[in-house]
Amino acid sequence: MAPRNTPALNAPFFTPKQSPPAGSALSTNPPTLFTPLKIRDVEFQNRIWVAPMCTYSASKGHLTDFHLVHLSAFAYRGASLTIIEATSVLPNGRISPEDSGLWSDSQIAPIRRIADFLHSQNQKLGIQLAHAGRKASMVAPWLVERGTAQTATADVGGWLGDVMGASAISWGEGYPMPREMSARDVRDVVEGFRDSARRAVEAGVDVIEIHAAHGYLLCSFLSPISNRRTDTYGGSFENRIRILVEVIEAIRAVIPSGMPLLVRISATEWMEQHASESWDFESTIKLAKLLPGLGVDLLDVSSGGNNEAQAIQLHNGFQVGIAGRIRSALFEAGIKDLLVGAVGLITEAEAAKEIVQNGKPGSKDPTVEIEDEHGATAKADIVLVARQFLREPEWVLRVAHRLGVEVKWPQQYHRGQFLKDSKI
Ligand SMILES: Cc1cc2nc3c(=O)[nH]c(=O)nc-3n(C[C@H](O)[C@H](O)[C@H](O)COP(=O)(O)O)c2cc1C
Repeated sequence: MAPRNTPALNAPFFTPKQSPPAGSALSTNPPTLFTPLKIRDVEFQNRIWVAPMCTYSASKGHLTDFHLVHLSAFAYRGASLTIIEATSVLPNGRISPEDSGLWSDSQIAPIRRIADFLHSQNQKLGIQLAHAGRKASMVAPWLVERGTAQTATADVGGWLGDVMGASAISWGEGYPMPREMSARDVRDVVEGFRDSARRAVEAGVDVIEIHAAHGYLLCSFLSPISNRRTDTYGGSFENRIRILVEVIEAIRAVIPSGMPLLVRISATEWMEQHASESWDFESTIKLAKLLPGLGVDLLDVSSGGNNEAQAIQLHNGFQVGIAGRIRSALFEAGIKDLLVGAVGLITEAEAAKEIVQNGKPGSKDPTVEIEDEHGATAKADIVLVARQFLREPEWVLRVAHRLGVEVKWPQQYHRGQFLKDSKI
């Protein structure tokens, strides 16, 4: 009998079965980067995820064919999770008029289409739920000079009269003046996250990430610089994290217990030099220790974005050290059930490998001297990569080749595989 080109299960069209999924290691003893990781009920075939990236291309908050093609390109080439860009839970939480949204049931179908396609390729889809707060109603960044910003006025679809934030403090030059949110606004935001999460589940996504980084709404509540409220959502650490805690609890209550929940945070707002009190590493570590108890599985460690005056020093892997510091602090406190994601200028195969490598430093075999199931010596459990995927959608396959790891390619691309000794 001739071998059969087996169809994928549950796809409404013929597409070959991808099993194991592209990006799975085929060689024995791969580095940790190419070992699977299970979070709750979801298994990832490697440790490389596509970070959320706004594309300012949605149609009244609805994803389009562009997003299907854009996100699928990374997913079917082996990224073990592809996260949809910041998706606003309320119309006034979009960064730009062309941002993705999930405040309405009509926005479910285009996401479901992407989820169905990724699942037909045996890959996983995540979504980042967000509210832009005082950084809302802006024009797409490519319309203005690099390093500058411009508000979107009503004639180009903006809502400058309805921009809201923790306090009535503008982010800086070129940004709107927000109104200080009322108790009702806070409730609307929490309910917006909850309802959007329910819609995301209905759309078939596998993972939800809460955006609490980069100066957007939840991030601005965390910082004593941007949050000057005098009610129960401002002042003490417990008050400033309250809205985030409520959002986490509201989401966890409506998503399946087997679904991973991630939080992205700015681990420092890089304002230690400018302010006596700011959101810093210690604040993040204090928050991180509470997260597993709230049902959060992974902290995605980013930084900055909350202040014009931030003293950030960019260099390759600049945030990886921060992720490592947080992971070590969690281990020292005996907390092993919060995974850590590293992100930021991770572009090289070796660097990605080292970040998640289990076992004692210098040990070539990741299966020896592992101190526990997550590996006490790694800096992170997952690497998230953004821009390198825009340059090389096949980055996972290239990284595997550069590290000498044989991985599964998408069936249709089997003739494109890198030759064993080729330099790429
Ligand atoms: C075009 C673009 C859009 C982005 N949009 C988002 C976003 O929607 N949500 C978010 O948390 N970060 C966003 N980021 C930040 C990335 O997720 C990532 O943290 C950052 O680019 C650093 O990673 P990289 O050096 O691998 O690009 C964006 C970055 C880029 C380049």
